[in-house]
Amino acid sequence: MPIETTASVVTEVPDDAELLAVPYDSGLSPSVELPLPAADLLAHYDSKGEAGEVVEVPVARSGGVGRVLLYGVGDGSPRDLRKAAAALTRKVKGRETLTVVPPAADDLTPFAEAALLAAYTFKIGKPGKEPVRSLVFAGADEGQVRRAETVAQAVAFARDLANTPSSVKNPAWLAERAQETGLPVEVWDEERLRADGFGGILAVGRGSASPPRLIKLSYTPDEPATRHIVLVGKGITFDSGGLSLKPTDNMKTQKTDMAGGAVVIAVLKALAALKAPVRVTGLVAAAENMPSGTAQRPSDVITHYGGRTVEVLNTDAEGRLVLADALAYADAVLDPDAVVDIATLTGAITVALGRVYGAVYSTDDELAERLVAAGQASDDRLWRMPLVEEYKPALDSPIADLANVESGSKFGAGSITAALFLREFAGERPWAHLDIAGVGRSTSDEGTLSKGATGFGVRVLLEWLTKS
Ligand code: BES
Ligand code: MN
Ligand code: ZN
Repeated sequence: MPIETTASVVTEVPDDAELLAVPYDSGLSPSVELPLPAADLLAHYDSKGEAGEVVEVPVARSGGVGRVLLYGVGDGSPRDLRKAAAALTRKVKGRETLTVVPPAADDLTPFAEAALLAAYTFKIGKPGKEPVRSLVFAGADEGQVRRAETVAQAVAFARDLANTPSSVKNPAWLAERAQETGLPVEVWDEERLRADGFGGILAVGRGSASPPRLIKLSYTPDEPATRHIVLVGKGITFDSGGLSLKPTDNMKTQKTDMAGGAVVIAVLKALAALKAPVRVTGLVAAAENMPSGTAQRPSDVITHYGGRTVEVLNTDAEGRLVLADALAYADAVLDPDAVVDIATLTGAITVALGRVYGAVYSTDDELAERLVAAGQASDDRLWRMPLVEEYKPALDSPIADLANVESGSKFGAGSITAALFLREFAGERPWAHLDIAGVGRSTSDEGTLSKGATGFGVRVLLEWLTKS
Protein backbone atom coordinates (compact mmCIF):
# COMPACT_ATOMS: atom_id res chain seq x y z
CA MET A 1 0.00 0.00 0.00
CA PRO A 2 1.32 3.45 -0.66
CA ILE A 3 2.23 5.34 2.52
CA GLU A 4 -1.12 6.73 3.67
CA THR A 5 0.34 9.12 6.23
CA THR A 6 0.29 12.63 4.82
CA ALA A 7 3.14 15.10 5.24
CA SER A 8 2.45 18.83 5.36
CA VAL A 9 4.24 22.00 6.35
CA VAL A 10 3.06 24.87 8.56
CA THR A 11 5.02 28.02 9.34
CA GLU A 12 4.41 27.94 13.10
CA VAL A 13 3.33 25.45 15.73
CA PRO A 14 -0.48 25.71 16.01
CA ASP A 15 -1.59 26.64 19.57
CA ASP A 16 -3.94 23.71 19.73
CA ALA A 17 -1.43 21.07 18.58
CA GLU A 18 -2.51 18.26 20.86
CA LEU A 19 0.40 15.95 20.12
CA LEU A 20 3.66 17.79 19.61
CA ALA A 21 7.19 16.48 19.07
CA VAL A 22 10.05 18.72 20.16
CA PRO A 23 13.78 17.97 19.94
CA TYR A 24 15.62 17.76 23.28
CA ASP A 25 17.97 20.56 22.43
CA SER A 26 15.42 23.14 21.32
CA GLY A 27 13.95 25.89 23.45
CA LEU A 28 10.32 24.88 23.77
CA SER A 29 7.69 26.76 21.88
CA PRO A 30 6.14 29.51 24.07
CA SER A 31 2.74 27.85 23.76
CA VAL A 32 3.93 24.77 25.60
CA GLU A 33 4.51 24.64 29.31
CA LEU A 34 6.06 21.49 30.70
CA PRO A 35 5.12 20.32 34.22
CA LEU A 36 8.85 20.30 35.13
CA PRO A 37 11.95 21.69 33.43
CA ALA A 38 12.91 19.54 30.43
CA ALA A 39 16.30 18.67 31.94
CA ASP A 40 14.65 17.26 35.08
CA LEU A 41 12.20 15.22 33.05
CA LEU A 42 14.96 13.74 30.92
CA ALA A 43 17.07 12.95 33.99
CA HIS A 44 14.04 11.26 35.54
CA TYR A 45 13.67 8.99 32.51
CA ASP A 46 17.44 8.36 32.31
CA SER A 47 17.34 9.80 28.85
CA LYS A 48 20.57 10.99 27.24
CA GLY A 49 19.25 12.53 24.07
CA GLU A 50 20.32 9.69 21.82
CA ALA A 51 18.63 9.37 18.46
CA GLY A 52 15.61 7.12 18.81
CA GLU A 53 14.82 8.14 22.42
CA VAL A 54 11.36 9.63 22.89
CA VAL A 55 10.02 10.83 26.27
CA GLU A 56 6.31 11.52 26.49
CA VAL A 57 5.20 14.34 28.81
CA PRO A 58 1.58 15.37 29.52
CA VAL A 59 0.98 19.12 29.25
CA ALA A 60 -1.96 21.41 29.90
CA ARG A 61 -3.82 22.23 26.72
CA SER A 62 -6.73 24.53 26.20
CA GLY A 63 -9.62 22.40 27.41
CA GLY A 64 -7.67 19.27 28.31
CA VAL A 65 -4.42 17.36 28.33
CA GLY A 66 -1.98 17.41 25.46
CA ARG A 67 1.30 15.58 25.09
CA VAL A 68 4.76 16.63 24.19
CA LEU A 69 7.17 14.07 22.83
CA LEU A 70 10.71 15.13 23.64
CA TYR A 71 12.93 13.37 21.13
CA GLY A 72 16.68 12.84 21.02
CA VAL A 73 18.64 13.76 17.90
CA GLY A 74 22.01 12.24 18.83
CA ASP A 75 24.85 13.95 16.99
CA GLY A 76 22.45 15.62 14.55
CA SER A 77 23.91 13.70 11.59
CA PRO A 78 21.54 12.63 8.79
CA ARG A 79 21.73 9.07 10.09
CA ASP A 80 20.74 10.11 13.61
CA LEU A 81 17.98 12.37 12.28
CA ARG A 82 16.55 9.42 10.33
CA LYS A 83 16.61 7.30 13.45
CA ALA A 84 14.93 10.03 15.49
CA ALA A 85 12.19 10.58 12.92
CA ALA A 86 11.42 6.88 12.52
CA ALA A 87 11.14 6.50 16.31
CA LEU A 88 8.62 9.36 16.46
CA THR A 89 6.38 7.88 13.79
CA ARG A 90 6.45 4.50 15.48
CA LYS A 91 5.65 6.09 18.85
CA VAL A 92 2.41 7.70 17.58
CA LYS A 93 0.92 4.66 15.83
CA GLY A 94 -2.89 4.78 15.99
CA ARG A 95 -3.00 8.59 16.47
CA GLU A 96 -4.46 11.21 14.18
CA THR A 97 -1.92 14.04 13.86
CA LEU A 98 1.64 14.57 15.04
CA THR A 99 2.97 18.10 14.83
CA VAL A 100 6.75 18.07 14.66
CA VAL A 101 9.16 20.82 15.57
CA PRO A 102 12.04 19.63 13.37
CA PRO A 103 15.64 19.47 14.56
CA ALA A 104 18.04 22.26 13.66
CA ALA A 105 19.42 21.11 10.30
CA ASP A 106 19.88 22.70 6.88
CA ASP A 107 18.48 19.68 5.11
CA LEU A 108 15.40 18.07 6.62
CA THR A 109 14.91 15.69 3.69
CA PRO A 110 16.38 12.66 5.51
CA PHE A 111 14.30 13.44 8.62
CA ALA A 112 11.00 13.77 6.73
CA GLU A 113 11.76 10.78 4.51
CA ALA A 114 12.45 8.51 7.49
CA ALA A 115 9.34 9.73 9.33
CA LEU A 116 7.25 8.70 6.33
CA LEU A 117 9.05 5.41 5.67
CA ALA A 118 8.43 4.29 9.25
CA ALA A 119 4.69 4.63 8.50
CA TYR A 120 4.86 2.04 5.70
CA THR A 121 2.77 -1.10 6.19
CA PHE A 122 1.77 -3.99 3.96
CA LYS A 123 -1.29 -5.87 5.14
CA ILE A 124 -3.83 -8.10 3.53
CA GLY A 125 -6.50 -7.67 6.21
CA LYS A 126 -6.44 -5.28 9.14
CA PRO A 127 -4.22 -6.62 11.93
CA GLY A 128 -2.58 -4.18 14.39
CA LYS A 129 -2.75 -0.41 14.76
CA GLU A 130 -2.84 1.98 11.83
CA PRO A 131 0.10 4.35 11.38
CA VAL A 132 -0.39 8.02 12.33
CA ARG A 133 -2.56 9.71 9.70
CA SER A 134 -0.83 13.03 9.41
CA LEU A 135 2.62 14.47 10.05
CA VAL A 136 2.84 18.25 10.21
CA PHE A 137 6.33 19.74 10.05
CA ALA A 138 6.43 23.21 11.61
CA GLY A 139 8.76 25.66 9.91
CA ALA A 140 10.21 23.10 7.48
CA ASP A 141 11.17 23.79 3.87
CA GLU A 142 8.30 22.71 1.62
CA GLY A 143 10.60 21.58 -1.23
CA GLN A 144 12.57 19.29 1.09
CA VAL A 145 9.42 17.71 2.47
CA ARG A 146 8.02 17.15 -1.04
CA ARG A 147 11.24 15.49 -2.22
CA ALA A 148 11.22 13.30 0.88
CA GLU A 149 7.63 12.33 0.14
CA THR A 150 8.36 11.43 -3.51
CA VAL A 151 11.32 9.28 -2.52
CA ALA A 152 9.45 7.60 0.36
CA GLN A 153 6.48 6.79 -1.90
CA ALA A 154 8.86 5.33 -4.49
CA VAL A 155 10.38 3.09 -1.79
CA ALA A 156 6.86 2.12 -0.69
CA PHE A 157 5.92 1.25 -4.28
CA ALA A 158 8.94 -1.03 -4.62
CA ARG A 159 8.10 -2.64 -1.27
CA ASP A 160 4.48 -3.19 -2.31
CA LEU A 161 5.49 -4.93 -5.53
CA ALA A 162 7.92 -7.17 -3.68
CA ASN A 163 5.57 -7.91 -0.76
CA THR A 164 2.72 -8.96 -3.06
CA PRO A 165 2.26 -12.75 -2.85
CA SER A 166 3.36 -14.74 -5.87
CA SER A 167 -0.15 -16.18 -6.21
CA VAL A 168 -1.03 -12.68 -7.45
CA LYS A 169 2.27 -11.53 -8.88
CA ASN A 170 3.51 -13.21 -12.04
CA PRO A 171 5.59 -11.77 -14.92
CA ALA A 172 2.51 -10.49 -16.81
CA TRP A 173 1.21 -8.83 -13.62
CA LEU A 174 4.56 -7.10 -13.15
CA ALA A 175 4.40 -5.82 -16.74
CA GLU A 176 0.93 -4.39 -16.03
CA ARG A 177 2.23 -2.56 -12.97
CA ALA A 178 5.01 -1.09 -15.13
CA GLN A 179 2.42 0.03 -17.67
CA GLU A 180 0.47 1.81 -14.93
CA THR A 181 3.39 4.13 -14.26
CA GLY A 182 2.30 6.15 -17.29
CA LEU A 183 5.79 5.97 -18.82
CA PRO A 184 6.35 4.54 -22.31
CA VAL A 185 6.56 0.77 -21.74
CA GLU A 186 7.41 -2.05 -24.11
CA VAL A 187 6.77 -5.69 -23.18
CA TRP A 188 8.20 -8.82 -24.76
CA ASP A 189 5.88 -11.80 -24.36
CA GLU A 190 7.07 -15.38 -24.76
CA GLU A 191 6.66 -15.40 -28.51
CA ARG A 192 8.60 -12.20 -29.01
CA LEU A 193 11.28 -13.32 -26.54
CA ARG A 194 11.73 -16.43 -28.68
CA ALA A 195 11.80 -14.48 -31.93
CA ASP A 196 14.49 -12.15 -30.56
CA GLY A 197 16.61 -14.88 -28.97
CA PHE A 198 16.24 -14.20 -25.23
CA GLY A 199 17.23 -17.77 -24.38
CA GLY A 200 18.06 -17.12 -20.70
CA ILE A 201 14.71 -15.56 -19.77
CA LEU A 202 12.87 -18.29 -21.69
CA ALA A 203 14.86 -21.12 -20.07
CA VAL A 204 14.18 -19.86 -16.53
CA GLY A 205 10.49 -19.25 -17.26
CA ARG A 206 9.69 -22.50 -19.03
CA GLY A 207 8.84 -24.52 -15.92
CA SER A 208 6.07 -22.12 -14.95
CA ALA A 209 2.42 -21.93 -15.96
CA SER A 210 2.91 -18.13 -16.05
CA PRO A 211 5.16 -17.28 -18.99
CA PRO A 212 8.09 -14.83 -18.72
CA ARG A 213 8.28 -11.22 -19.87
CA LEU A 214 10.94 -8.65 -20.60
CA ILE A 215 9.71 -5.20 -19.58
CA LYS A 216 11.25 -1.97 -20.85
CA LEU A 217 10.41 1.45 -19.38
CA SER A 218 11.71 4.77 -20.70
CA TYR A 219 12.20 8.13 -19.03
CA THR A 220 13.25 11.16 -21.07
CA PRO A 221 13.85 14.49 -19.29
CA ASP A 222 12.27 17.71 -20.55
CA GLU A 223 15.66 19.35 -21.09
CA PRO A 224 18.17 17.62 -23.41
CA ALA A 225 19.64 14.71 -21.45
CA THR A 226 23.22 14.76 -20.22
CA ARG A 227 23.61 10.96 -20.31
CA HIS A 228 21.73 7.73 -21.01
CA ILE A 229 21.68 5.21 -18.18
CA VAL A 230 20.24 1.69 -18.37
CA LEU A 231 18.96 0.05 -15.17
CA VAL A 232 18.44 -3.71 -15.26
CA GLY A 233 16.41 -5.47 -12.55
CA LYS A 234 16.06 -9.14 -11.66
CA GLY A 235 12.36 -9.91 -11.83
CA ILE A 236 11.95 -13.48 -10.57
CA THR A 237 8.36 -13.38 -9.29
CA PHE A 238 8.97 -16.57 -7.33
CA ASP A 239 12.19 -18.53 -6.98
CA SER A 240 11.49 -22.13 -6.00
CA GLY A 241 14.95 -23.04 -7.29
CA GLY A 242 13.41 -24.93 -10.23
CA LEU A 243 14.45 -28.58 -10.48
CA SER A 244 17.39 -27.66 -8.20
CA LEU A 245 14.61 -27.17 -5.64
CA LYS A 246 15.11 -25.05 -2.53
CA PRO A 247 14.16 -26.36 0.93
CA THR A 248 10.94 -24.78 2.34
CA ASP A 249 12.69 -22.44 4.77
CA ASN A 250 14.77 -20.91 1.98
CA MET A 251 11.86 -20.89 -0.45
CA LYS A 252 9.33 -19.03 1.66
CA THR A 253 11.18 -15.70 1.35
CA GLN A 254 11.47 -15.92 -2.42
CA LYS A 255 8.39 -13.95 -3.43
CA THR A 256 10.73 -10.97 -3.04
CA ASP A 257 13.14 -12.30 -5.67
CA MET A 258 11.89 -9.58 -8.02
CA ALA A 259 12.95 -6.84 -5.59
CA GLY A 260 15.57 -5.57 -8.06
CA GLY A 261 12.95 -5.34 -10.81
CA ALA A 262 10.59 -3.59 -8.40
CA VAL A 263 13.30 -1.02 -7.66
CA VAL A 264 13.78 -0.37 -11.37
CA ILE A 265 10.04 0.22 -11.92
CA ALA A 266 9.73 2.45 -8.84
CA VAL A 267 12.83 4.49 -9.72
CA LEU A 268 11.67 5.08 -13.30
CA LYS A 269 8.28 6.22 -12.03
CA ALA A 270 9.82 8.79 -9.63
CA LEU A 271 12.31 10.37 -12.04
CA ALA A 272 9.92 12.91 -13.57
CA ALA A 273 8.73 14.27 -10.22
CA LEU A 274 12.38 14.68 -9.17
CA LYS A 275 13.31 16.31 -12.50
CA ALA A 276 16.21 13.94 -13.15
CA PRO A 277 18.43 15.40 -15.90
CA VAL A 278 19.43 12.01 -17.38
CA ARG A 279 17.69 9.73 -19.82
CA VAL A 280 16.99 6.37 -18.18
CA THR A 281 15.86 3.07 -19.66
CA GLY A 282 14.68 0.37 -17.24
CA LEU A 283 14.74 -3.31 -18.15
CA VAL A 284 13.05 -5.89 -15.94
CA ALA A 285 13.76 -9.51 -16.79
CA ALA A 286 10.72 -11.27 -15.35
CA ALA A 287 10.16 -15.00 -14.96
CA GLU A 288 8.87 -17.48 -12.42
CA ASN A 289 11.40 -20.19 -11.56
CA MET A 290 9.39 -23.39 -11.08
CA PRO A 291 10.00 -27.15 -11.31
CA SER A 292 7.74 -29.06 -13.71
CA GLY A 293 7.76 -31.38 -16.70
CA THR A 294 8.64 -28.43 -18.90
CA ALA A 295 11.32 -26.97 -16.63
CA GLN A 296 14.95 -26.64 -17.67
CA ARG A 297 17.26 -29.34 -16.28
CA PRO A 298 20.65 -29.16 -14.63
CA SER A 299 23.01 -29.96 -17.58
CA ASP A 300 20.91 -28.17 -20.22
CA VAL A 301 22.81 -25.77 -22.48
CA ILE A 302 21.05 -22.52 -23.33
CA THR A 303 21.82 -19.74 -25.82
CA HIS A 304 21.60 -16.18 -24.54
CA TYR A 305 20.68 -13.00 -26.38
CA GLY A 306 23.62 -12.32 -28.67
CA GLY A 307 24.58 -15.98 -29.06
CA ARG A 308 26.67 -16.88 -26.03
CA THR A 309 26.04 -20.42 -24.69
CA VAL A 310 25.77 -21.40 -21.03
CA GLU A 311 25.71 -24.80 -19.38
CA VAL A 312 23.10 -24.68 -16.62
CA LEU A 313 24.53 -26.75 -13.79
CA ASN A 314 22.13 -25.44 -11.14
CA THR A 315 18.67 -24.15 -12.02
CA ASP A 316 18.63 -22.18 -8.75
CA ALA A 317 21.31 -19.85 -10.14
CA GLU A 318 18.58 -18.41 -12.37
CA GLY A 319 18.94 -14.69 -11.69
CA ARG A 320 22.18 -14.45 -13.66
CA LEU A 321 20.53 -16.23 -16.60
CA VAL A 322 17.71 -13.70 -16.98
CA LEU A 323 20.03 -10.75 -16.30
CA ALA A 324 22.57 -11.95 -18.89
CA ASP A 325 19.98 -11.59 -21.66
CA ALA A 326 18.96 -8.11 -20.55
CA LEU A 327 22.58 -6.93 -20.13
CA ALA A 328 23.53 -8.25 -23.57
CA TYR A 329 20.49 -6.54 -25.09
CA ALA A 330 21.31 -3.22 -23.40
CA ASP A 331 24.87 -3.34 -24.71
CA ALA A 332 23.92 -4.38 -28.24
CA VAL A 333 20.88 -2.18 -28.79
CA LEU A 334 20.47 0.68 -26.30
CA ASP A 335 23.89 2.40 -26.52
CA PRO A 336 23.97 3.52 -22.87
CA ASP A 337 26.71 5.56 -21.16
CA ALA A 338 26.51 3.22 -18.17
CA VAL A 339 24.57 0.14 -17.11
CA VAL A 340 23.62 -0.70 -13.52
CA ASP A 341 21.90 -3.95 -12.63
CA ILE A 342 20.23 -4.69 -9.32
CA ALA A 343 19.36 -8.17 -8.12
CA THR A 344 18.68 -10.38 -5.11
CA LEU A 345 21.35 -12.57 -6.62
CA THR A 346 23.14 -14.66 -4.01
CA GLY A 347 22.65 -15.92 -0.47
CA ALA A 348 26.44 -15.65 -0.23
CA ILE A 349 26.36 -11.84 -0.09
CA THR A 350 24.32 -12.02 3.12
CA VAL A 351 27.16 -14.04 4.65
CA ALA A 352 29.67 -11.37 3.55
CA LEU A 353 27.81 -8.12 4.27
CA GLY A 354 24.70 -8.95 6.30
CA ARG A 355 21.52 -6.88 6.21
CA VAL A 356 22.76 -3.27 6.23
CA TYR A 357 25.24 -2.96 3.36
CA GLY A 358 24.40 -3.98 -0.19
CA ALA A 359 27.23 -5.01 -2.53
CA VAL A 360 28.40 -3.01 -5.51
CA TYR A 361 30.70 -4.53 -8.12
CA SER A 362 31.96 -2.42 -10.97
CA THR A 363 34.31 -2.38 -13.93
CA ASP A 364 34.57 1.40 -13.58
CA ASP A 365 36.12 3.11 -10.54
CA GLU A 366 34.31 6.39 -11.00
CA LEU A 367 30.92 4.74 -11.31
CA ALA A 368 31.63 2.64 -8.22
CA GLU A 369 32.69 5.70 -6.23
CA ARG A 370 29.61 7.66 -7.25
CA LEU A 371 27.32 4.83 -6.27
CA VAL A 372 29.05 4.33 -2.92
CA ALA A 373 28.78 8.09 -2.23
CA ALA A 374 25.11 8.16 -3.23
CA GLY A 375 24.58 5.19 -0.94
CA GLN A 376 26.09 7.03 2.03
CA ALA A 377 24.02 10.13 1.34
CA SER A 378 20.75 8.30 0.82
CA ASP A 379 21.21 5.67 3.56
CA ASP A 380 21.03 2.73 1.12
CA ARG A 381 24.62 1.93 1.99
CA LEU A 382 26.84 0.07 -0.48
CA TRP A 383 30.18 -1.67 -0.04
CA ARG A 384 32.40 -2.20 -3.07
CA MET A 385 33.36 -5.81 -3.66
CA PRO A 386 36.18 -7.01 -5.92
CA LEU A 387 35.84 -8.74 -9.29
CA VAL A 388 38.63 -11.23 -8.60
CA GLU A 389 40.18 -12.35 -11.90
CA GLU A 390 41.64 -15.50 -10.35
CA TYR A 391 38.10 -16.79 -9.70
CA LYS A 392 37.05 -16.52 -13.33
CA PRO A 393 37.92 -20.21 -14.16
CA ALA A 394 35.16 -21.20 -11.72
CA LEU A 395 32.76 -20.58 -14.61
CA ASP A 396 34.59 -22.64 -17.25
CA SER A 397 32.49 -25.26 -18.99
CA PRO A 398 33.87 -28.12 -21.12
CA ILE A 399 30.95 -27.88 -23.56
CA ALA A 400 29.64 -24.28 -23.51
CA ASP A 401 31.08 -20.76 -23.40
CA LEU A 402 30.36 -20.59 -19.67
CA ALA A 403 28.82 -22.56 -16.81
CA ASN A 404 26.25 -20.80 -14.62
CA VAL A 405 27.87 -22.02 -11.38
CA GLU A 406 31.12 -23.54 -10.26
CA SER A 407 30.88 -27.32 -10.42
CA GLY A 408 33.14 -28.03 -7.44
CA SER A 409 34.11 -25.91 -4.46
CA LYS A 410 37.64 -24.85 -5.34
CA PHE A 411 36.80 -21.16 -5.62
CA GLY A 412 33.78 -20.47 -3.42
CA ALA A 413 33.00 -16.74 -3.34
CA GLY A 414 29.43 -17.19 -4.57
CA SER A 415 28.56 -13.52 -4.91
CA ILE A 416 31.83 -12.65 -6.69
CA THR A 417 31.57 -15.50 -9.18
CA ALA A 418 27.96 -14.48 -9.91
CA ALA A 419 29.19 -10.93 -10.62
CA LEU A 420 31.95 -12.30 -12.87
CA PHE A 421 29.31 -14.23 -14.80
CA LEU A 422 27.26 -11.05 -15.36
CA ARG A 423 30.34 -9.09 -16.44
CA GLU A 424 30.67 -11.40 -19.43
CA PHE A 425 27.42 -9.99 -20.82
CA ALA A 426 27.78 -6.31 -19.94
CA GLY A 427 30.19 -5.45 -22.77
CA GLU A 428 32.89 -2.79 -22.51
CA ARG A 429 30.74 0.03 -21.13
CA PRO A 430 30.91 1.23 -17.52
CA TRP A 431 28.85 -1.34 -15.63
CA ALA A 432 27.92 -1.86 -12.00
CA HIS A 433 26.09 -4.71 -10.34
CA LEU A 434 24.26 -4.38 -7.02
CA ASP A 435 23.73 -7.65 -5.14
CA ILE A 436 20.88 -6.86 -2.73
CA ALA A 437 20.01 -10.38 -1.54
CA GLY A 438 21.02 -9.47 2.03
CA VAL A 439 19.36 -6.07 2.21
CA GLY A 440 16.27 -6.70 0.08
CA ARG A 441 14.31 -8.03 3.04
CA SER A 442 14.06 -7.02 6.66
CA THR A 443 13.46 -9.60 9.36
CA SER A 444 11.65 -7.14 11.67
CA ASP A 445 9.81 -3.81 11.97
CA GLU A 446 12.59 -1.45 12.95
CA GLY A 447 13.49 2.16 12.20
CA THR A 448 12.60 2.98 8.61
CA LEU A 449 12.14 -0.71 7.74
CA SER A 450 9.17 -2.98 8.12
CA LYS A 451 9.29 -6.77 8.08
CA GLY A 452 9.48 -7.97 4.48
CA ALA A 453 10.63 -6.07 1.42
CA THR A 454 12.81 -3.00 2.08
CA GLY A 455 12.86 -1.27 -1.32
CA PHE A 456 16.66 -1.11 -0.95
CA GLY A 457 18.13 0.47 -4.06
CA VAL A 458 15.41 3.04 -4.72
CA ARG A 459 17.04 5.72 -2.59
CA VAL A 460 20.61 5.18 -3.77
CA LEU A 461 19.64 5.08 -7.45
CA LEU A 462 17.42 8.16 -7.16
CA GLU A 463 20.19 10.00 -5.34
CA TRP A 464 22.71 9.03 -8.02
CA LEU A 465 20.41 9.80 -10.97
CA THR A 466 19.17 13.14 -9.66
CA LYS A 467 22.23 14.58 -7.95
CA SER A 468 25.37 13.50 -9.80
N1 BES B 1 17.20 -15.70 -5.22
C1 BES B 1 18.33 -16.45 -4.80
C2 BES B 1 19.25 -15.63 -3.87
C3 BES B 1 18.66 -15.28 -2.54
C4 BES B 1 18.86 -16.10 -1.45
C5 BES B 1 17.99 -14.09 -2.36
C6 BES B 1 18.34 -15.75 -0.21
C7 BES B 1 17.47 -13.75 -1.13
C8 BES B 1 17.65 -14.57 -0.07
C9 BES B 1 19.16 -16.87 -5.99
O1 BES B 1 18.46 -17.10 -7.16
C10 BES B 1 19.79 -18.16 -5.62
O2 BES B 1 19.07 -19.11 -5.44
N2 BES B 1 21.12 -18.18 -5.53
C11 BES B 1 21.81 -19.35 -5.18
C12 BES B 1 23.00 -19.45 -6.11
C13 BES B 1 23.69 -20.80 -6.03
C14 BES B 1 22.79 -21.88 -6.62
C15 BES B 1 24.97 -20.71 -6.82
C16 BES B 1 22.25 -19.22 -3.74
O3 BES B 1 22.59 -18.13 -3.31
O4 BES B 1 22.21 -20.23 -3.04
MN1 MN C 1 17.67 -19.10 -7.22
ZN1 ZN D 1 16.69 -16.07 -7.37
